Amino acid sequence: MNTTSLTVHVNRLTGEIHIPGDKSISHRSIMFGAIAEGTTTITNFLTGDDCLSTISCFQKLGVEIIQDHEKVTIHGTGFEGLQEPSEILDVGNSGTTIRLMMGILAGRPFFSTLIGDDSIAKRPMTRVTKPLKALGAGIDGRSGGEYTPISIRGGSLKGIEYQVPVASAQVKSAILLAGLQAGGTTKVIETAKTRDHTERMIQHFGGAVEVDGLSVSVQGGQQLKAADVHVPGDISSAAFFLVAGAIVPNSEIILRNVGLNPSRTGIIDVMKEMGADLEIFNEDLAAFEPVGDMRIKTSSLKGMTIGGDLIPRLIDEIPVIALLATQAEGVTVIKDAEELKVKETNRIDTVVHELAKLGARIEATNDGMIIHGRTNLSGGIVDSYGDHRIGMMLAIAALICEKEVNLVDAGAISVSYPNFFSHLENLLS
Ligand code: S3P
Repeated sequence: MNTTSLTVHVNRLTGEIHIPGDKSISHRSIMFGAIAEGTTTITNFLTGDDCLSTISCFQKLGVEIIQDHEKVTIHGTGFEGLQEPSEILDVGNSGTTIRLMMGILAGRPFFSTLIGDDSIAKRPMTRVTKPLKALGAGIDGRSGGEYTPISIRGGSLKGIEYQVPVASAQVKSAILLAGLQAGGTTKVIETAKTRDHTERMIQHFGGAVEVDGLSVSVQGGQQLKAADVHVPGDISSAAFFLVAGAIVPNSEIILRNVGLNPSRTGIIDVMKEMGADLEIFNEDLAAFEPVGDMRIKTSSLKGMTIGGDLIPRLIDEIPVIALLATQAEGVTVIKDAEELKVKETNRIDTVVHELAKLGARIEATNDGMIIHGRTNLSGGIVDSYGDHRIGMMLAIAALICEKEVNLVDAGAISVSYPNFFSHLENLLS
């Protein structure tokens, strides 16, 4: 058992962090750099394991990609230049890689196979394979296309109109990426607005996309052109330090260059409503992805109900919001969040189980969880279960624990935040 001893019971956190690149945007910058024609340079690229999986998959499709730390140069081939891979495409732990790549491969007239790790093998894929089949792609997988390995023989596609049954940016993006290669118009209708990085990226790379409320349409046959991308910091990574600053006594943390795309800022709305001393400044809302700096101070918090259309705007932050709620007066209810069950782990189970081990008063519901605050957290052996966001949430929880905390599989954190522990260390000194 690989266990890491976490820092516990700290008196204060102070200092500044430059938040690493956004995971969703880093993935898409590689994909769009590859399917556009010409040379794309990406800066502030996230070097987490998930984004490295995306690079390696596109290299296997014949795209020349040179990575030098956070700078990546892609010699885009356009859709037509992608080549049949001689090897299996391994996405590791990355749901975004596999689902978006399926959309790209659906329109390519060749054979490919996608696999991932044990977590990916349990995650539902019919939500993507079904609409891609409707567009005309040949796709199959274990259990009728629900699970990896997935095989694709892409080809000539025809645009469809599709109502996505779950709120998922990955599903929307896969359909749009296939739609760019299909004849006619492809229209995706969402149940709730999800992150719109793909729509923004299509436009940034010179393409056209039409957004009308919850529907998004693209025309097939558009030629995308290389465009440089400076990736903003990941608000989902910043979230761990926002919560840390709010719950550790005597703290003041500045977070630089954080992405402020409104489809991702649910955490800010929730923290403000709970009473957090959180300020945003240096905003650049005109950038292709809006950014700004944040200051968080130790806060006096109260519980609230979180549900409805807010959920897709903070879906990845729910583990750390649950921790925040343990330090808020009163009850916090998280509902309408069944999607948590099909993330890297079943995050309703893993959050509730691990926080309860530390002494939190938290219970699982069918579509979320209920947290009773405020509780003192004690200590113990906790497990990330290989889920990066569970690992980071527990490392932040340890900061306010009274006794020793040991974390099983802290290595999972490198999926989205390889410098997490060194950034935390800097705030302790
Ligand atoms: C992502 C979308 C979300 C999110 C995931 C990244 C993306 O998943 O949880 O971490 O980059 O499109 P769903 O679209 O499946 O909800």
